[in-house]
Amino acid sequence: MHFSTTLTIFLSLAGALAAPISLDKKAATAAAGVLKVQTYDDFNVSGGVAGNALAEVNAAFPVDQTNLAGVAASDLAIIAKAAQVSEDAETGTGGFNDAIAAAGGTGTTAGTALQNGKIKNKVLKLQTDVLRIQIEVAQGNTGSQSELATQQAKLATNVALDKAAAGQSSTAITFSGSD
Ligand SMILES: *[C@@H]1O[C@H](CO)[C@@H](O)[C@H](O)[C@H]1NC(C)=O
Repeated sequence: MHFSTTLTIFLSLAGALAAPISLDKKAATAAAGVLKVQTYDDFNVSGGVAGNALAEVNAAFPVDQTNLAGVAASDLAIIAKAAQVSEDAETGTGGFNDAIAAAGGTGTTAGTALQNGKIKNKVLKLQTDVLRIQIEVAQGNTGSQSELATQQAKLATNVALDKAAAGQSSTAITFSGSD
């Protein structure tokens, strides 16, 4: 009786100790990144034509969206930085807003193409931000959840604008920074 009580306690202790060790091991093996740090000029999608921005962004950031909990910390950091740099490329000095103003506004041919590039850049900014939030939530940071619906709604609006301009030429800008 005494022996079996001791054995039971020992076995439950062993179980309690074994669990965190195997979890740590799993987290360590899941952390291999698939993304590389790139300059904005390399990861932007604003060139070419409008209409396919979302697919172009997903191709530029090919993390496994069916396993967001397993996305590497280094990939999450790159995605979060990409969202910030593309925000700067819209509103910062020398960004799309400045370029459109310099082209005489969205009523000119050059301004229209830049506006298409700006919308593609918004899809880049918002899809990387939505991905960031989804990864954070999947990895247990539930505090990020409240931002998700707002960013998803903005993303849907800009994906629709991009599709509405499908086939029109779209102008990229060169912008400093990397993700
Ligand atoms: C990204 O921006 C650069 C610099 O303006 C441009 O040459 C390139 O075509 C853009 N890339 C894509 C995929 O749109």
